[in-house]
Amino acid sequence: MKLFIDTADVKQIEEAWSWGIIDGITTNPSHVAKTGRSPKDLYPEICRLVKGPVSLETVSLTAPEIVEEGRRLAAIAKNVVVKVPIIKEGLKAVKTLSGEGIKTNVTVTFSPVQALLAAKCGATYISPFVGRLDAFGHIGMEVVRQIKTIYSNYGFASQILTAAVRHPLHVLEAALAGSDVCTMSYDVLEQLYQHPLTDLGIEIFLKDWAKVPK
Ligand code: E4P
Repeated sequence: MKLFIDTADVKQIEEAWSWGIIDGITTNPSHVAKTGRSPKDLYPEICRLVKGPVSLETVSLTAPEIVEEGRRLAAIAKNVVVKVPIIKEGLKAVKTLSGEGIKTNVTVTFSPVQALLAAKCGATYISPFVGRLDAFGHIGMEVVRQIKTIYSNYGFASQILTAAVRHPLHVLEAALAGSDVCTMSYDVLEQLYQHPLTDLGIEIFLKDWAKVPK
């Protein structure tokens, strides 16, 4: 399973990329707003920093405008993936953009049927928001499992990008469900490698090593 970091913070991207475990980036308008920077210089900088796909989100609401915005975003760099919310106009735009060979990430998705529509329009990625579903009393990961079944049943090429991930258990469940990608905040990424037994184990080894004659 590929791991993406969900942020527009250049420092977080640089640091996480240096660990060697990140395959790509997802951003959204809220992440960009938090940086206080203009997308004009922020987007090219992020695309230069990483070798993998970088999702940049459209904010237009009609298909012709989404297509225009998507083309402009795709022109920033070869690794741009145009992120489009799953509304009717968004689906029309994804169909056009995919036809032009532009990669797309259909986002703000909460149901397997939405994911079916995105795949039919040629979406490269589909992003179910599992944590937001959990917050409303649904089982977000069940949506990922159902999308996986639908895509396998019909051989759709769209990749499942599990998003709005809140903790390592979401990452584990995404991997077990066969999600192609899982995107998460810097904080969740850090939690993936931490374990108190690892710290304790290292402490014991170092104490014993100190007793070894040098
Ligand atoms: C994914 O691509 C989204 O940017 C992200 O996961 C949004 O979810 P959140 O804001 O609820 O974390």
